[in-house]
Amino acid sequence: MAVARNKMKIAHHVKDLSLAQKGHGRIEWARRSMPVLASIEKRFAKEQPLKGVRVSACLHVTSETAALMQTLKTGGADIVLCASNPLSTQDDVAAALVDQGISTYAIKGEDRATYFSHIKAALDHAPQMTMDDGCDLVSSIITERRELLKNIIGGTEETTTGVVRLRAMAEAGKLAFPVVSVNDALTKHMFDNRYGTGQSTIDGMIRATNRLIAGQVFVVLGYGWCGRGLAMRAKGMGADVIVTEIDPLKALEATMDGFRVMSGHEAAKVGDFFCTVTGNTSVLAKEHFLAMKDGAIVANSGHFNVEIDIAWLEKNAKKSSVRDFVDEYTMKNGKRIAVLGEGRLINLASAEGHPSSVMDMSFANQALSAEFVMKNHKKLEKKVYAVPQEIDREIARLKLASMGVSIDVLTKQQAKYLASWEEGT
Ligand SMILES: NC(=O)c1ccc[n+]([C@@H]2O[C@H](COP(=O)([O-])OP(=O)(O)OC[C@H]3O[C@@H](n4cnc5c(N)ncnc54)[C@H](O)[C@@H]3O)[C@@H](O)[C@H]2O)c1
Repeated sequence: MAVARNKMKIAHHVKDLSLAQKGHGRIEWARRSMPVLASIEKRFAKEQPLKGVRVSACLHVTSETAALMQTLKTGGADIVLCASNPLSTQDDVAAALVDQGISTYAIKGEDRATYFSHIKAALDHAPQMTMDDGCDLVSSIITERRELLKNIIGGTEETTTGVVRLRAMAEAGKLAFPVVSVNDALTKHMFDNRYGTGQSTIDGMIRATNRLIAGQVFVVLGYGWCGRGLAMRAKGMGADVIVTEIDPLKALEATMDGFRVMSGHEAAKVGDFFCTVTGNTSVLAKEHFLAMKDGAIVANSGHFNVEIDIAWLEKNAKKSSVRDFVDEYTMKNGKRIAVLGEGRLINLASAEGHPSSVMDMSFANQALSAEFVMKNHKKLEKKVYAVPQEIDREIARLKLASMGVSIDVLTKQQAKYLASWEEGT
């Protein structure tokens, strides 16, 4: 790997350092919509809660992530950042981060070997704290780099899929240090997964295809936090939205929310657009592809590129690249299926991920969870921890204040009423 060192001796592997100026502008623009993180950064500058702590972060390298890295650095952390997805890196932001003195390993479109060499570089930092989006750092440490465990006091995890992997590790008795599940904070998943993924997934699909969504049949596979947001936004764009689910409760909720719910196989026959957001594997596979209409457009916004069985298409259809982020597969039955962004999270592959105002809350959770790990690691066990409720409420309070929204406060009488069981009437 051609690891270069710039004049500040910051180890890095990014596409092109001359893109830094553009990256600085983009980061500045994002920071304007991130008031909660800014207020945390101001306090971190005074209190230095992360002074001297080595942090390895594996996150989508975007302008919002850059704002988080700056906050942690201001709080005293010594950070190395690598990409948590080969297609989500903003190369100009990566260059700007190096320019700001943050060691960064990320190149948009990097191949598998480079992706893992970047994770290795982040781990060579001998972290005391990990910050993951998808659990790649923690699983690499536990399976291949156990010698690093002696330094590690804890970590944080950003997304649903990472938390699922961590809980499986904890269940199997393999989790070797405490990890805070940032995803479980209400100020994260209720907003980032729902409104962030909802808007940016539509944005990614439109940027990749330039197709009109109004009047089209749009199939949302999975009605969790992300799926709800996506279905809501597709409906808002004028689509006829169909939802598929495996959980009867979620399927019922989607029905009551006014969506048509049917099996994936039935939906395959009528959909124009499809988007998986399940965190599961092979949700769109052979039986669906064969049933789809000619020209169906297929994307994924779940964490890993396993939700669409692209391997089957690769083996059984002829591929041609028709425009950026669109690969068209012509099957033996003559029908064409357009797969967007190689089946990777489409909101980050062909768009810019979540809007900054949503990441403001997600990354405020990351910064405060890192501080929580630092303050409490001696008491924590090798478990997955939820973000403490006080942190969640504090973030909501700061966000409301930044939006100029005021809320009511319980009167003494109301507080007493809610805490008592005798006073029923
Ligand atoms: N694109 C992004 O920026 C972004 C942001 C947040 C989360 N994510 C990722 O998106 C995925 C979903 O996250 P979430 O928070 O919505 O999770 P969630 O657990 O709230 O929802 C997932 C839903 O998918 C359903 N499901 C599972 N298998 C299915 C199948 N075969 N067919 C239909 N439905 C199925 C589940 O029943 C559940 O309701 C995860 O991989 C997560 O990491 C992506």
